[in-house]
Amino acid sequence: MCGIVGYIGKKNCVPILINGLKRLEYRGYDSAGIGIINNGNSKIVKNKGKVSVLEENVNNLQLTANIGIGHTRWATHGIPNEINAHPHSNESGSLFIIHNGIIENYRTIKTDLQNLGYKFTSDTDSEVLVHLIDYFINKGYDLCKAVQFALNEVVGTYGIAVIYNNEPDKLIAARKGSPLVVGLGENENFIASDVSALLSYTKQIVYLDDGELAVITKDGFTVKTISDKEIQKEVHEISISLEEIDKSGYPHFMLKEIMEQPDSVWNSMRGRLLHEEGTAKLGGISEVMDRLVNSNRIILSACGTSWHAGLVGEYMIENLTQIPTEVEYASEFRYRNPIISKDDTVILISQSGETADTLAALREAKNRGALVLGICNVVGSTIARESEAGVYIHAGPEIGVASTKAFTSQLVVLALITLLVARKKNLSAAEGRVIVEALQDLPEKVYQCLKLNETIEQIANEFKDASNFLYLGRGYNFPVALEGALKLKEISYIHAEGYPAAEMKHGPIALIDENLPVVFIAPKDSTYEKVVSNIEEVKARGGRLIAIASENDNDIDELVDYSIKIPDTVEMLRPILTSIPLQLLAYHIAVKKGLNVDQPRNLAKSVTVE
Ligand code: M6R
Repeated sequence: MCGIVGYIGKKNCVPILINGLKRLEYRGYDSAGIGIINNGNSKIVKNKGKVSVLEENVNNLQLTANIGIGHTRWATHGIPNEINAHPHSNESGSLFIIHNGIIENYRTIKTDLQNLGYKFTSDTDSEVLVHLIDYFINKGYDLCKAVQFALNEVVGTYGIAVIYNNEPDKLIAARKGSPLVVGLGENENFIASDVSALLSYTKQIVYLDDGELAVITKDGFTVKTISDKEIQKEVHEISISLEEIDKSGYPHFMLKEIMEQPDSVWNSMRGRLLHEEGTAKLGGISEVMDRLVNSNRIILSACGTSWHAGLVGEYMIENLTQIPTEVEYASEFRYRNPIISKDDTVILISQSGETADTLAALREAKNRGALVLGICNVVGSTIARESEAGVYIHAGPEIGVASTKAFTSQLVVLALITLLVARKKNLSAAEGRVIVEALQDLPEKVYQCLKLNETIEQIANEFKDASNFLYLGRGYNFPVALEGALKLKEISYIHAEGYPAAEMKHGPIALIDENLPVVFIAPKDSTYEKVVSNIEEVKARGGRLIAIASENDNDIDELVDYSIKIPDTVEMLRPILTSIPLQLLAYHIAVKKGLNVDQPRNLAKSVTVE
C-alpha cells in the first residue's frame, strides 16, 4: 500500500528512485512521483498512472540531484490524479513529503491550518503533514524537530519521508503502522517501504519500528523516538537476491509464482521433517511448544487468501489435535472485544507480515495475554517481529498481487505445526510418518498439477466471457472454493462466489442456468459421494460444470463438461494440490481478457491501511 523510496549520497538519485519505484509498484499504482533537491533547486515531477509514465517524464527533463524521494500511490483520500499524487509540497516549494498510511484527524488539522492562512491544493489526508511541518519550521524549529512536533499532532498511521531545501544534507523518515527500512551504503544511504527497492544497492538494512524517526545523511543515520529519545538499532544483512524479484522470462509474476510452487512448497518444509519420529521440527516455536500444545483454544486470524489458509488450518488442527480452533477475519477480531485468555494461542497468518488489520489483531491478542504466533513470508516484517514466536513459510518474494505460492506454503506450514502438536498429543509415530511421507511427495505432485497448464488454458478460453462463477466444495475443499473464487474475481473482475457445496441448495442454486459455470472441487475424499449429488443437482438445472477431481476418477467425466485430474495425497494436504488448477484458471481467464494480472485495478499487494 503505497511505495516509498528515498536516496541521499553522491550519485544521481533520479534513476535510483525510478528503479526503486518500479520494484515497489506492486504496493500501489494509481500515481507516481519524485521530489528532488539539487544545489538549492527543488523540483517535483508526478503523474497519474504508472511509474513507466513518470520515468518517461523525468527522462525528458534530464534531472540530476543527490537527494530525493519517490512514491507510488494506492489512493485512500482523493482520486488518483496528478494533484493528489505524492510528493506534496509546502507553498514555497522548499519542503517535500511522501506518505503511506492514513491521517485520521486530517480534517481538524486542515481547518486549523487553513485558518492560519495555509492553502491546500489536494484532496489527500497526507497534505496536512507537509503544511504542519512547515508551520513548525516557521516557528523556528529545525527540520527534525518540526517533523517530531508535527507527528505528535497526528492521529493515524504513517510511513513518511521528508526533504527540505534549507537542510539539503538530510533525509527524514518516520513510521507508525506503515513499514519503513533504512538501507546503508558507502557514502550513500536509502529508505524504502520494503527491501525489494534497495536490493540493487545494499543488503544492509535497519528496520524502523513504530514511533521511530530516522535522520539519514550520506554518511550515516540516527534513530530516535518521536519524543526525541535516541535508540540504538541493529543492522540486518538480508538474503534475498535480485533474481528472486525478477520475472525470469515469464510474462507475469503471477505465472512465475504459480510455476515456482514445486520449489516454494519444498522450501517451506525443507529441514523441518523428522521422518523416523513422524513429526516436524520448527525452531521458531520450540520455546513456546508447551504453551501451544496445552492451549485451550487456537484462533487463526488473517485477511484474504491468508484467511482462507487459516480455514484449512482449522480443519487440520481440529482433526488431528482435538484443540478447539476458530478462524477470524483480523479486521473483525480487532474490534469485537474477543474473549481471549492466556491459555489461548492466536496465530496470525500474513504473507507480507504488514497487513494493518492482522497486525492490529496481533496486538489485541498480545494485550489480552494469549500466546501470539506469526506465520509470515517476509522475513523481518512487522508481524514477524512483533509475534512472540513464529514460523516463516520461506516461499520467496511474492510480487504478483494475487497470492499463489504464499497460500500453498502457508498450508504446508500449518500442516507442520499441526503435525508437531498432534504428535505431542495423540497422533502415533506411524500416523505421523504417513503425513511426513505425503509432505515429501508433494513437490512432485505440485509439478504434476502444473503440467495441466495447457489444458486449463483451453478451459479458460471457453469460460472467459462468463459474468459469474460459482465455486463449490465441502470439508477441506470449501476454503479452496473460497480461494478459487477470490483468485478469479480479483484479477479477472468476474463476479465469483465460493460456497460449501451443500449450502448451494439454500440459495445459490437459484443462480444456476446454462450461463453459469460451476467449479466443483471434488477429489475422492470423505465427502465425495455427497458432492457428486450436488454436481447432479447443478447438471439437472443446466449449469456448466468444471470439476477438480482425482486422477483415478473416471466416473466424474460423465457428469461434468470439463474435469481437471490431479494426483492424490492425504486429505489434509489436498488443498495444496486442488488450489493450483484454480490459480491457473483465474490466471488464464484474466490474461485472455487482456487484464493486468499482476496489478489488478484498485488493489495493492500489502494492505497497510485499515
Ligand atoms: O500479506 P497478507 O497475507 O496479510 O495479505 C492478506 C490479503 O490482503 C491478501 O491475501 C489478498 O487477499 C490477496 N490479494 C489475495 O490474492
